[in-house]
Amino acid sequence: MQNFSIGIIGAGNMGLALASGLASRMAPEQIAVSDPHPDKRQRIRDLGISAYADNGPVVARADLLVLAIKPQGLRELCAAIAHEVQSRRPLVVSVAAGIRGTDIDRWLGGGLAIVRAMPNTPALINAGISALWANDKVSARQREAAATVLGVVSEVFWLTDEALMDAATAISGSGPAYFFLMVEALTAAGVTLGLPRDLCAALAAGTAAGAGRMIHDHPEEAAALRARVTSPGGTTERAIKSLLGDGFMEMVGRAAQAARDRSRELGEQLGAA
Ligand SMILES: NC(=O)c1ccc[n+]([C@@H]2O[C@H](COP(=O)([O-])OP(=O)(O)OC[C@H]3O[C@@H](n4cnc5c(N)ncnc54)[C@H](OP(=O)(O)O)[C@@H]3O)[C@@H](O)[C@H]2O)c1
Repeated sequence: MQNFSIGIIGAGNMGLALASGLASRMAPEQIAVSDPHPDKRQRIRDLGISAYADNGPVVARADLLVLAIKPQGLRELCAAIAHEVQSRRPLVVSVAAGIRGTDIDRWLGGGLAIVRAMPNTPALINAGISALWANDKVSARQREAAATVLGVVSEVFWLTDEALMDAATAISGSGPAYFFLMVEALTAAGVTLGLPRDLCAALAAGTAAGAGRMIHDHPEEAAALRARVTSPGGTTERAIKSLLGDGFMEMVGRAAQAARDRSRELGEQLGAA
């Protein structure tokens, strides 16, 4: 990443997380960030990184340009920076959910190297996981650069088929919320069983964190880990039977499908213009 300049447009959750991670790995003068909000620019400057209200200076020097704004604003942003992007021709990395590479490329004037990345919320604490896809203009060196940038906040996996980005969005992009919901449900269940709410919330959250650490080290072994804590005739077995009997697997399958469909829909709606 030496002699490589990175520009980040948008210093919200994701832009700030990426800038913070990169600041400890490369010279701050290799990074530039833009955002309309003075408080967010100040947080970037606190990292020793230049921050601008205008996107121009960021695009002008970027070899890799991260678009870290909400999907709804992406078309307008691309139209505003297309001219400068075409003269610099950086690798463009979009973290926006749903928006397809061909639409981003078209909005920016065409012929560009585009990477789409779908990180997730734990990226904000450098514990995310990201699915990446590259169009055919992206060189091996640029792939490596994109993986390095997302790698500062997350594990990185490449997809060869862009259509699967919608599925990855449904599993890992939206996924943290499913686990948060499970903690909410367990907390509510504990209260129903007579436990104080604060204690219940701590028990449920601590259990999620511990289970998360165990599965992180053995990602293929969810079923084996579950079997190990499910003694025949025991309490866990009774609970799991109840969940499966009530259609837990089908419910999760339908939820993931709904998220995948919404991601497709967003791409179609926002990319149509
Ligand atoms: N947060 C996550 O966990 C997560 C996970 C996966 C993917 N993503 C994706 O990452 C992207 C950013 O998400 P986020 O949560 O970081 O959003 P965010 O907190 O809203 O940050 C976006 C920042 O960019 C600014 N901005 C908007 N338009 C701009 C423009 N034209 N030029 C410069 N700055 C502009 C926004 O200002 P305003 O508030 O005034 O618009 C805001 O400060 C989204 O596309 C999202 O889908 C986020």
